[in-house]
Amino acid sequence: MESIARWPLRATGLDDAPLRGLPGSTSFAELYHLLRDPRAFFHDRFERYGRVFKSRLVYPVVFAVGDEANRSMLVTRRHDVAFGAGYAATNVEKIFAGSMMLQDGEDHRRTRDLLSPAVGTLAIKESANAVRTVWSHAADRIGERGGGDCYEMAERGTFDAAANVLTGLSLGAETDSFRPHFRGLIDGVMAPTKLRIPLGRLDRALKSREALFDLLRPRVEAARRVEPVALLGKLAHHRDENGKPIATDDIIGHILLLFWAGYDTTASSAAWILHELAYRADWQLRLREELRAGGDITSNGECPQLNNFLFEIERMYPSALFFPRIALADLEIGGLTIPKRSTVFYSPYMSHRDPEAFENPNVFDPDRFSAARGASRAVATKLVGFGGGPRICLGKSFAKLQLKIMIKTILERFHLEPDPNARPSVLALPIHHPSHSLIRARSLH
Ligand code: HEM
Repeated sequence: MESIARWPLRATGLDDAPLRGLPGSTSFAELYHLLRDPRAFFHDRFERYGRVFKSRLVYPVVFAVGDEANRSMLVTRRHDVAFGAGYAATNVEKIFAGSMMLQDGEDHRRTRDLLSPAVGTLAIKESANAVRTVWSHAADRIGERGGGDCYEMAERGTFDAAANVLTGLSLGAETDSFRPHFRGLIDGVMAPTKLRIPLGRLDRALKSREALFDLLRPRVEAARRVEPVALLGKLAHHRDENGKPIATDDIIGHILLLFWAGYDTTASSAAWILHELAYRADWQLRLREELRAGGDITSNGECPQLNNFLFEIERMYPSALFFPRIALADLEIGGLTIPKRSTVFYSPYMSHRDPEAFENPNVFDPDRFSAARGASRAVATKLVGFGGGPRICLGKSFAKLQLKIMIKTILERFHLEPDPNARPSVLALPIHHPSHSLIRARSLH
């Protein structure tokens, strides 16, 4: 797989002079403020500087917030912002070397065309049954313990689902044995440096990557000889128009990338769902009633309250606060010019809190998406929690299906409520999720 990430593109380097025309600060304290409280950082800069502002994450960067910025970067000017080069500035370059996250243009289109049909089938009945089994086991554990920490419950369930549905690992001992390797791999993405320091996070991630390749090679070879199971099996049976199969290491590369892209993100949303439900008995009742009435959760037209609830989770709690791009040309956004070669981030978090896009943006209100609100109804197409345009999340339907199955399984069996001893807080980076949110699950039967 070829990547344009190796283009001789440098963002502005350490020199902030090209950004002089933009509001904001390129003080070296910016990174400290971002890491100390990422959500407060966005609210504060948005208030002070507006929708386009410069900052510094070691090197100078630009944040572009709001509907105009999102449409421009994801759709209308997408050819003028490089996706692959944006991720190449991070540890994704080493940990997911050769993957679609580092591609643009024709290379990316080919990989996306290859993976789309296989990933698309994840959202249909075949994987729904596997996901149901995962969440039914998870519900058994929750029932035995009477509740638990929202993120821990969500993370375990989504890990098991990804291991089973993507890689074909059987639930239990086999999945558990792969867990340290997948965790090591994923934890390395946020290693503080791109230097491979022995025993450092990046070093551990690259060792996990090697271990996963060694463990998965024989599985791919075996999968080529039996009926396809899981995404790994589907890719092992794929043939291009000339009858050529995908090379074993390329299949493993795709699986690892999909695992990273799909597991912690879904865990984040699942954790916010459990947290919000526990604090909103009214929504538990409404969703339980709607689901009992038998609507098809795989259809977007049915279960409107469930769909609106998920829109609001995406709006208030996007899994990642911001995503990188490199400007290949000057970008005009909000009357300001973001110069060519800048590292520029779009931000689902702050865009979803922009009062111009969503009324009372800091209030959790799934009904804002309801048709009953008439002209003041919120527009779901302004959401970018799954990205947008041609690079919209490849696993969006699968993720939504998983979340719906989780909600249905949990609400059928339990009433949720906050644990009185809980002191919930928020972990916003690298993945946005509730922390120390202990909840109780009271059995309904
Ligand atoms: C709630 C769960 C999820 C969320 C919030 C989420 C969010 C996103 C976002 C925002 C992007 C675009 C990133 C950018 O613009 O830089 C993206 C891309 C992507 N996602 Fe997801 N994702 C989720 C689940 C999944 C799952 C389950 C899979 C796979 C099984 C997946 C696979 C991918 C891939 C492969 C891309 C890159 C697409 C491309 O470059 O063409 N995601 N996701």
